[in-house]
Amino acid sequence: QRPIHRLLSCPGTVAADLRREEQTSGNVETGSADRLVQKRFSEVQKERREQAQRTVLINCPNKISEKKFLKYLSQHGPINNHFFYESFGLHAVVEFCQKESVASLQDATYTPGLGAEAAIPFRSRFFSVKLKTAENQPSERSNVCCTNQSPPTSRKIFELLCYAESIDDQLNTLLKAFQLTEENTKLRYLTCSLVEDIAAAYFPFCAIKPFGSSVNSFGKLGCDLDMFLDLDETRRLHAQKTSGNFLMEFQVKSVSSERIATQKILSVIGECLDHFGPGCVGVQKILNARCPLVRFSHQASGFQCDLTTNNRIALKTSELLYMYGALDSRVRALVFSIRCWARAHSLTSSIPGAWITNFSLTMMVIFFLQRRSPPILPSLDYLQTLADPEDECIIEGHNCTFTGDLNKIKPSGNTETLELLLKEFFEYFGNFAFNKSSINIRQGKEQNKPESSPLHIQNPFEISLNISKNVNQSQLQKFVELARESAWILQQEDKDRPSPSRNQPWGLAALLLPSVSNSKFLDKKRRKKPASERIKNLLDSIKGSNTENSRNTNGK
Ligand code: CTP
Ligand code: MG
Repeated sequence: QRPIHRLLSCPGTVAADLRREEQTSGNVETGSADRLVQKRFSEVQKERREQAQRTVLINCPNKISEKKFLKYLSQHGPINNHFFYESFGLHAVVEFCQKESVASLQDATYTPGLGAEAAIPFRSRFFSVKLKTAENQPSERSNVCCTNQSPPTSRKIFELLCYAESIDDQLNTLLKAFQLTEENTKLRYLTCSLVEDIAAAYFPFCAIKPFGSSVNSFGKLGCDLDMFLDLDETRRLHAQKTSGNFLMEFQVKSVSSERIATQKILSVIGECLDHFGPGCVGVQKILNARCPLVRFSHQASGFQCDLTTNNRIALKTSELLYMYGALDSRVRALVFSIRCWARAHSLTSSIPGAWITNFSLTMMVIFFLQRRSPPILPSLDYLQTLADPEDECIIEGHNCTFTGDLNKIKPSGNTETLELLLKEFFEYFGNFAFNKSSINIRQGKEQNKPESSPLHIQNPFEISLNISKNVNQSQLQKFVELARESAWILQQEDKDRPSPSRNQPWGLAALLLPSVSNSKFLDKKRRKKPASERIKNLLDSIKGSNTENSRNTNGK
C-alpha cells in the first residue's frame, strides 16, 4: 500500500520551512503530513505581506563583504534573515525583525546628486549601498553566495530526468527544479510591497496583493507576477466597527461605470510607476483590455508585472487552486510536468494569442484528477458544502464560497502512481469529446458546451465565462495530437525498455525534449500541409491574438 499522498505544505509559502524540516528529517514519504496543521491561504498571505513590510531591497557593489554589510545594517535593528541574488547587478533582500528599522534606515539615507541629471526624491525601500572609500574594499570579489532566481536550463533538466530512478521520480524531480523557492516567493511579496508604497501616494490605505501562479502553488521560476490593487481593504476592515444611528460616507467623485473608475485609477498609478517608481521600466497601460491592466518590468527583481484592480474573483481563484495544490502531492507534480510538456512543444507561449494558457492546463489537470476513480480531488460544489459561515463570499453576485480549511477535507483513497496518471492524462484528453463537452471543475463532471468555442473550460466562479475562449481549433488539434502521441510513447516505453537508460532520454524526458520522435512525426505532418494552410493558421493565431488580447487578461 502506498502512503497517502498529502502534501505537507506548499513550498514557496511560509509553511515551506516546516516542509523543509520534514524533508531533512526524512519523513516526507511517510504521509506524516497529517500531523501538520495546514495553513489557510489568507493566513499565508497575511504573514507574507507583514514580512515584506519589514524587508528592504539593496543594490550592492560587486565587491562587498557580507559580514561588514550586515553589521552596518544592524545599526538600525536586528536582522531576521537576508539573501543575495543577481539581476542587473548584485542585490540583497534584507528582512529586519521590526518595521521601525526600515524607517531608521530611510532616515540615514540620502537622495543622490546625479551631476548633469536630476534625481526625483522618492523615499522607497529600494536602496543602493556605496563604499565610502576605496581602501575599505576587499581586494578581491567577495564571497557572497547568490541564490538562484531563474528556471533551470533544458540541459540541466535533461540531466536530472535521465538520472531519475522512475517516471514518478522524474515528475517529482521536475517539480523540485521548477517550483518557486522560498527566496523567490519572498522577492515576489517584496516587489508587491514596494509597488504598494508607490500606489499609497494616491491611496494611502491600499494593498497590493500577488495572485495567480505566484501564490497558487503552481508557479514556475520565471513566471510573471500578477498583482491586485485592493482599495477595499480598509473599508472591509473598519466598516462594521461604529455604533449609533449614523453611517458616515466619504464624499467622492463619481464616473459612469466601474470600468471607467478602474481605468482612471490604473492610469494614474501607471504614470506614477513610470515617472517615480525606482526600478520600474517599460510601463505599458493596457486599459482597453477586458480586464484593464498596467504591465511593467521590475528590473531589480527581474519580474514582469501585471497590475490590475477590481478583480477580486481572480484572487479567490488563486485561493481555490492553492487548496487543490495542497490537497494531494500528486497534483502539483502532474501540473508542472504538463506545463513543461506544453511549453516544450510550443503549445503555450509567453505571447498572448490563440494558445492554451498555463491556467487552462491547470484546470484540465484538476478536472482529470476529479474524474479518477476514486477521485483524487473533490469538486468545487463539494468544497462549498464544507464551508463555514466565515467562508461565505459573494463577489459581484457570484458565489465564491468554499471552505478555506484544508484539514476539513479527507485525503483521497486513490493510490495511483504519477506514471499511471501521466499516461492516463494524455489518453483522457487525447480522446475527450471537446466538440460537445465543457470542462467543469465546479461539478467535477463534463457538461454540455454552452457555446461553440473549440475548447470550453468554465470559469469556476463566473460561470458564464469560458477561460479558454482564446484557443482556436488548430491549437486544440495540436494539443490532442501531441497528447495521443505522448500516450503512445509512454506505452511503447513500457514494452521496449526493461530498465531506464541513463544515456538516452526516457520517460518524461522523452516527452519533453524536442528531439523526441513525436516532434519529428509532427514536423513531417506539418511539412505535408500546403503552405497556404500553414499561413492561414498563422494569420488565424495573429488575428486571435489581437482580438483575444483582452480575453487573455480576462479575469485578471
Ligand atoms: N485568470 C482568470 N481567467 C482567465 C485568465 C486568468 O480568472 N481567463 C486569473 C487566474 O486566477 C490566473 C490569474 O488570473 O491564475 C493570472 O493569470 P495568468 O498570469 O494568465 O496565469 P497564471 O495562473 O498566473 O499562470 P502563469 O504562470 O502562466 O502566469
Ligand atoms: Mg501569471
